[in-house]
Amino acid sequence: MNIDPKNWIDLSGKVAHVTGGAMGIGRGIAQALAAAGARVAVSDVDGDGARRTAGEIGGHAITLDVSDRAAFEAALDETAAKLGGLDILVNNAGVYTGFGGPVRGITDEMWRELWSINVDGVFYGCRAAARMMIDQGRGGRIINLASTQSITPGVGVTYDGSKGAVLQITRALALELAPHKINVNALAPGPTWTRSPEAPPITGRPPEPTGDPLADTVASRIARLPLGHWADPMELGKAAVFLSGSMSDFVTGIYLPVDGGWLVL
Ligand SMILES: NC(=O)c1ccc[n+]([C@@H]2O[C@H](COP(=O)([O-])OP(=O)(O)OC[C@H]3O[C@@H](n4cnc5c(N)ncnc54)[C@H](O)[C@@H]3O)[C@@H](O)[C@H]2O)c1
Repeated sequence: MNIDPKNWIDLSGKVAHVTGGAMGIGRGIAQALAAAGARVAVSDVDGDGARRTAGEIGGHAITLDVSDRAAFEAALDETAAKLGGLDILVNNAGVYTGFGGPVRGITDEMWRELWSINVDGVFYGCRAAARMMIDQGRGGRIINLASTQSITPGVGVTYDGSKGAVLQITRALALELAPHKINVNALAPGPTWTRSPEAPPITGRPPEPTGDPLADTVASRIARLPLGHWADPMELGKAAVFLSGSMSDFVTGIYLPVDGGWLVL
């Protein structure tokens, strides 16, 4: 038997589409998939940012708001036409800033806006990719960005609920799409630093309580994170390469935390 582990991460000949790839985790994942040999389409509601990332990796940029079903389907069609089909979809685009806080203050509009991106967008992408991959008949991979908040709440019911939904969408589709050799998995980042300046130091000590149970829970976990630093987006990128390549041929329906030990706490 000829075993060469280098082939296990080789994505040459594969076509990937990464949503929300202008910055942060999506950019790290797009960079990692391209480094492993995939041809990558990078989409984002920030079209200039998508073009920036695509320029860095020799990829194809698409301006896309994932909450627009028709636009999402058109973006995957464009990916297939330009790059030669679709083997890997990474549903990364998601929002969380400003949507936390006590339930009594959450408006219908806040709820709908976040769920239209974090949940509807993931569903639109999964459905369009499943149709395309089944028709192609060459299997595929779908990777959905869940969160440690899929398991441990803390950012508020709107976001925490959306990431719980992403996890169960992933598991349901893993079961349904397995006969088509389409593996569906969730990647669950812990605290990942996607903004400049650099990530603040992790002290190892819980901070002084502020009285806000949501903020205190999250701040205390971050301060005590076992691996002692915020993740870099490339750490998620490496895990995405694992879930895209032959090392994970027999892996479907999982929730892969890349969380510095968050879920141990
Ligand atoms: N950073 C973290 O600590 C963390 C932790 C757990 C989970 N996540 C998840 O990882 C994913 C990426 O997070 P991030 O921290 O890199 O975010 P980020 O805010 O740094 O980047 C998100 C990207 O998505 C784009 N985007 C926003 N709304 C969009 C839309 N409607 N359509 C298309 N693109 C859109 C933004 O323009 C941006 O480029 C999200 O799903 C997030 O919930 C992040």
